[in-house]
Amino acid sequence: MSIVYLNGNYLAEEDASISVLDRGFIFGDGVYEVIPCYGGHLFRLEQHLQRLQNSLDGIRLENPLTDSQWQETIKEVVKRNNDDNADQSIYLQVTRGAAKRDHVFPDKVSQTVFIMSSVMQPVSDAKLKKGVVAITHDDIRWRYCHIKSIALLPNTLMRQVAREAGADEAILNRDGKITEGAASNIFIVKDKKIITPPKNECLLPGITRDLILEIAADSGLAHSEEEISLAQLQDADEIWLTSSTKEILPVTQLDDVAVGNGKPGPCWQDMLARYQEHKKLLRSGDAH
Ligand SMILES: Cc1ncc(COP(=O)(O)O)c(C=O)c1O
Repeated sequence: MSIVYLNGNYLAEEDASISVLDRGFIFGDGVYEVIPCYGGHLFRLEQHLQRLQNSLDGIRLENPLTDSQWQETIKEVVKRNNDDNADQSIYLQVTRGAAKRDHVFPDKVSQTVFIMSSVMQPVSDAKLKKGVVAITHDDIRWRYCHIKSIALLPNTLMRQVAREAGADEAILNRDGKITEGAASNIFIVKDKKIITPPKNECLLPGITRDLILEIAADSGLAHSEEEISLAQLQDADEIWLTSSTKEILPVTQLDDVAVGNGKPGPCWQDMLARYQEHKKLLRSGDAH
């Protein structure tokens, strides 16, 4: 049975409910985070809580909990869902709470705070061996993509287009510049150099993205944060998609054309091995 946290209480998922006037439901007025938990250790919690604060600041909503309260509460959710010792994916969401429907913020805000846990489903070895398929899609989102907003309708629409085209992800193109995936960040490799677009309001600053850049720097691998054009994407030796739950996925087919030789590339293999090494340290409590 899944135990969730809602506004101060730990409840069975089926017993947790919120008002139909919640501004998250009515307006998508809220933000969220997804935090992996490996062997009971939360992955980069500090960075996730900092991004949560940035998202809350971005929508002008006061953080309802201190960092230590977040940590304590998330750890309690992890503990209460730790029946089979599986890795967990923690989802947390803060909305501007329930109020009479009005676009303007209510005078008195009582945030809705919700946390749940799901079992982390690792990407199958078969999928990693073969790589994934991606399509390119016009980036139809708003201008504040650095905010991790729960209003994900454009992302779901673009993911659905990808699914219907037999692809796993849509890679987004805003005015000729590649921003990210519908639910992932993007990297390309060209002549052994790892490249990802710089952080700005057009993309979500992924925690996985930052770790990959850190690993590249620590390992002395050529890397840079620079704009990627559609032509560069199409000409890449390798394309990777990154996110907390999918880690690093190699794209082997883009818009029906093979990427590189159509197989996951050597730089991806090398980076994935380093990433797994980092996770191993995290499991033993030697990394964060
Ligand atoms: C739009 C978007 N970009 C990037 C990411 C990757 O972020 P992270 O590595 O923090 O999971 C996500 C994750 O869900 C996302 O939804």
